[in-house]
Amino acid sequence: MTKRVIHVGVGSFGRRWCSEFLTRNIADGTIEVVAIADVDAEAVALGQKTLGLPDSACHTSIEEAFATHEADFCTIVVPPEFHEAVVDVAIAHGVDILCEKPIAATMEASVRIARKVREAGRKMAVTMSHRFDQDKTTLRQVIRSGKLGKVSQVSCRYFSDMRGHMEWGALFRHTMQDPLLIEGAVHHLDLVADFAGAKCKTLFATTWKPDWAEYAGDTDGIVTMVFENGVRGVYEGSSSSATGLNDWTMEYVRVECENGTAILNNREIEVFTRQDIFHQRYREGMGQKLPLLQQPKWLNTWLIEKFCNWLDGGPEMETIVEKNVQASALIFASIESVRTNSAIEVQDYVGSFS
Ligand SMILES: NC(=O)c1ccc[n+]([C@@H]2O[C@H](COP(=O)([O-])OP(=O)(O)OC[C@H]3O[C@@H](n4cnc5c(N)ncnc54)[C@H](O)[C@@H]3O)[C@@H](O)[C@H]2O)c1
Repeated sequence: MTKRVIHVGVGSFGRRWCSEFLTRNIADGTIEVVAIADVDAEAVALGQKTLGLPDSACHTSIEEAFATHEADFCTIVVPPEFHEAVVDVAIAHGVDILCEKPIAATMEASVRIARKVREAGRKMAVTMSHRFDQDKTTLRQVIRSGKLGKVSQVSCRYFSDMRGHMEWGALFRHTMQDPLLIEGAVHHLDLVADFAGAKCKTLFATTWKPDWAEYAGDTDGIVTMVFENGVRGVYEGSSSSATGLNDWTMEYVRVECENGTAILNNREIEVFTRQDIFHQRYREGMGQKLPLLQQPKWLNTWLIEKFCNWLDGGPEMETIVEKNVQASALIFASIESVRTNSAIEVQDYVGSFS
């Protein structure tokens, strides 16, 4: 049955929600947007025009939007520090929640939101969109098929050239303390953990801001991880790289397994399978190229549909808020590691907020 949605936030990414993710799901009857809300009247006007909504459906007060319209769920696309305020309003009106990543701007708030949602008996999922992109989903299928055997090591590289002021979309990324970890690595560390297939046990992180990065906080970093199943992970990230070798959606991910190696680089997947020969020496480019999976919806377009299926009694979303606390833990434990210059026991760190 078509689900009624209140959409909150029509900023730089919220505009894409309106023009693409919501629109695609409106077109096939998955959802109906009953209202939009943003504290900025110009943003509301843009959302209204894009979605073709009447004035009565458009609000600059979040509270008013929820008080005026009956909805099955809301979509939250405001900066992380404002997620909780919107979640509170949604809970007060008995509305389920599909929220942009990260859950919140701090670990305390992430754990608090998960608790509030559980206590209220509501459903909430987080849009870890990159995990649900076509290329990463194909790689996941290769790894989960088990054909390459047990996973040993996962490596992820993100190198984007957004070093100039406002090149990373919105002002808050240029003024915040940890833009790489909170706005970038939140996806990449989540991907590494997903391919590792377990919760993170221990991590060590180092981050920095090169002289040429027009940001207040650190744009570059390296994180090493040990997962509870023994898999090791390495992440290298930069939002101020000189040449943008692995920009957004073009990341490099290499999964080393017992019987082979799978590499995703700039949306191409190649697989190397161990042969019965002495001292194997392959080079990138010599592997078996795989076609990407095909399906109608990817990214948040797919996640909206998955969320609706979950509300209808279908499978639980992979990114329910309680599980997604682990994605928050990866970034906030990394920040703690940088601050203390020490390795962090991630599950003890999560436990310290309960
Ligand atoms: N999954 C992805 O690939 C991806 C990409 C970009 C952004 N995001 C996420 O989307 C969210 C929004 O990011 P953005 O780049 O659009 O930010 P933005 O600053 O460009 O826009 C945020 C919008 O929220 C509005 N807003 C702020 N506080 C509000 C409140 N309390 N109530 C209602 N509206 C409020 C602002 O007026 C603005 O229009 C963040 O959580 C970000 O991490 C995700």
